[in-house]
Amino acid sequence: MHHSSVVLETVIGVVTLLLVATGIRAFTKATKLPFSIVLVLTGMGFSYIAQSYPGASTLLPSLEISPDIILYIFLPTLVFESAFSMDTQMLRENLRQVLALAVPGLLLSTGLTGYIIHLATGIPLAESFLLGSILSATDPVAVIALFKQLGTPLRLTVLVEGESLFNDATAIVVSRILIAVVAAGNITFGTLLHGTASFFVVFIGGVVVGWLLGLLTGYILGMVESDPFIEISLTTVLAYLSFVIAEELLHVSGVMATVAAGLTIGGWGRMKISHSVRSYLEHFWEYLVFVANALIFLMVGLHVKISAITESFGMILWIILAMSISRAVIIFGIVPMVGKREKSEPVNLRYQTVMFWGGLRGAIALAIVLSLPDFEYYEIFVTLVTGAVLFTLIAQGLTMNMLVRFLKLNIAPLSDRFAFLEGSLASKLTAQEKIPELMKGGQFSGSIANRLQEENSREIEKIRKKIDSLQQSELTPEHEKRLILLFGFAEEKSMFIEMFNKGHISERAFRELVQVLSLHMDALRHSREVEHVEAYNLPQRRLERAAIYLAEKTPGLSTVAESIRRLRIAKDYEMAWGRYKGSGWVLQQMGSLTKLKSLSEESIKDLFRLYKRWQRMSGEILDQTAEQFPEFVNTVQERIGKRLLLQAESEAIKREAEHGFLTQGVAEKMQEEVTGKLHALKKIETGKLKFKPYELLREVPFFSEIPEKEYEQIIEHTITRSFSGKDYIIRQGEEGSSLFLIARGVVRVSRSDEGKTSDLATLMAGDFFGEMALLHSEPRSATVRAATPCLLYELKQEDLFTAMKTSPSIRSALEKADKERKS
Ligand code: CMP
Repeated sequence: MHHSSVVLETVIGVVTLLLVATGIRAFTKATKLPFSIVLVLTGMGFSYIAQSYPGASTLLPSLEISPDIILYIFLPTLVFESAFSMDTQMLRENLRQVLALAVPGLLLSTGLTGYIIHLATGIPLAESFLLGSILSATDPVAVIALFKQLGTPLRLTVLVEGESLFNDATAIVVSRILIAVVAAGNITFGTLLHGTASFFVVFIGGVVVGWLLGLLTGYILGMVESDPFIEISLTTVLAYLSFVIAEELLHVSGVMATVAAGLTIGGWGRMKISHSVRSYLEHFWEYLVFVANALIFLMVGLHVKISAITESFGMILWIILAMSISRAVIIFGIVPMVGKREKSEPVNLRYQTVMFWGGLRGAIALAIVLSLPDFEYYEIFVTLVTGAVLFTLIAQGLTMNMLVRFLKLNIAPLSDRFAFLEGSLASKLTAQEKIPELMKGGQFSGSIANRLQEENSREIEKIRKKIDSLQQSELTPEHEKRLILLFGFAEEKSMFIEMFNKGHISERAFRELVQVLSLHMDALRHSREVEHVEAYNLPQRRLERAAIYLAEKTPGLSTVAESIRRLRIAKDYEMAWGRYKGSGWVLQQMGSLTKLKSLSEESIKDLFRLYKRWQRMSGEILDQTAEQFPEFVNTVQERIGKRLLLQAESEAIKREAEHGFLTQGVAEKMQEEVTGKLHALKKIETGKLKFKPYELLREVPFFSEIPEKEYEQIIEHTITRSFSGKDYIIRQGEEGSSLFLIARGVVRVSRSDEGKTSDLATLMAGDFFGEMALLHSEPRSATVRAATPCLLYELKQEDLFTAMKTSPSIRSALEKADKERKS
């Protein structure tokens, strides 16, 4: 065949399939039938026509289903998108169940399915295991689409989708190992051991490769400001390159690499994607997945040879039985075992049932079996897998809907139902207010307006009644309180997102704010008191403190410790600002809540009080920081102000371009300039947190009497230290090596005796502390913590002693304080 005609034929083939798929999409939307299943059935219909009427076959696309196309083009696409859009928080919470099913579960399923097949059909053991592994990869596309339609709980989706995400990789790796075993001719202990070892290397290697490439891409994405073409291309390159690098270059699992890359970018890296690009990018991937799925399922259908399947019907029944038994064993056996430990909520029997029945097999299984090297059982394996895939798709896929409804898993959680009712009530009330406007112009018939008004009022009544009955039957006051709090958190979060998108708070501050919020939500779910959650105990803060501690103990690294501390102060300021704005927003939104009247006044008041207090607390932090570090706060505010102006400018340009005042080229150029400036203003400046000690120290009474020359000598030896609220400066019982002078801020001295802690004093700018340990060569007598952000000067022991020698006033000041404090 001529070269270009191959390309032409492929184009015609793909376009025809796409056209057919588009028709099916419209059809399934109207009939609510599962898209992928109708695709397969249509494909089968076409192939049947082609076989029965050989003349018709020229009209059919001549696309052979090629395992390479599935493995290298479709698989990375599907897996990446699925990982990218997965709720990573939810996945983390259910990771143990997901991994238990995807790794040991898949191995067990491979063994069990294989063994039953071996017993029932007489296929040799190694070959049976190979078939078992191929049949153990689940592919729940049809089920996930259905879940979304029905509104099943997110957790169930994550369990089913997560399992298939990881077990695809496992199945591919295991089947490759088994192919080697089949080639070797027999199973020995050696081959098994080697197989297990290489399994873990390949699996974990894939994760590492994907994770590293995901991180790298994330960092590059962070440098790009609002360019959809660059950002989308980067994610596309990541999806396929991680696959190819892992698979071909490093010989580890490509699927695992793509999964890990997708999870990394979808979770941590999502914030690195420009706000304006995010939804564009999501749509792009959704479309790719639509095309991939459409082509895959049509091709699967076209590939089915009905005559071959009817010939091996008996064997296929055995295969289905083996698959079902082992699926039941791993779901009902492994899931409850994993759920029992720790605080993770068990996955209940209803979920398990859906997971059992929802484990469909699909394109992955077909791709693996088609890509097997030619061997004795090739043809029969292809037929068996096709039959099994068809069975699960049709029998299980078409009945899932009924099962989910029967188990009542389609009923949304109380909070969602309540939110839905509240939302419709609010919108109907708004609509009601608009009706008088209709009448105003005089051109609108009064009777129609009246009728509309009546209809609307009736519906409002109906919704009110539904809310009432919900409150009486399920919505206890306790529930209601939680719902209202969740409402507050959601509003707060939307504010944080907006602030981050506008560049008012940095990515790090944003991440911490969201993290504290999810801690709050967790606390609420386990019904602990919300207020006991403290940001101070966040894991990354502990890490930060550990880093500061280590850096301080390591000679030469004290400047590193200091810069981490300054970053902390900057971040605390930003977070306080976010909280302040967030609580203000919630308080403002509360007005509309009270209007609805369906919530009890008391719980609304509770929320109001809580958020008032939070607002006050963050306001205090803002004030304190502004007082102690005015230079810093000024630069932060200036930066935000500049960004606000630039954003307004950018919006004006957009508007003018839309109205045609600006030509596209000019608008783009102007936009680019603004974007560049905005990007430059993204960085948080901690430089302004630096101070020159010279003037400040002069104001400290302690130094006021020292002659100029000696003063300058001491100054040279002081080290500037900044601390944020609650930081420890000195711990009781530690060895002391320096004296601290307070330049700005407030610290609190406390002492614990036999387990009881009591505050001794509050010290302010001009005071000093840490003298007692130095004067008596004793451990620190008390603990000193920063009460507000503060700035201190540290004077090392040797330098202090030199200073004491030359100026007796210092010695006497120290000794005087020491005597007073001791008593
Ligand atoms: P040192 O023992 O080196 O470390 C803890 C410091 O807390 C101590 O020095 C004093 O500077 C300070 N300190 C201890 N007790 C008091 C007190 N009663 N009032 C004020 N400061 C104190």
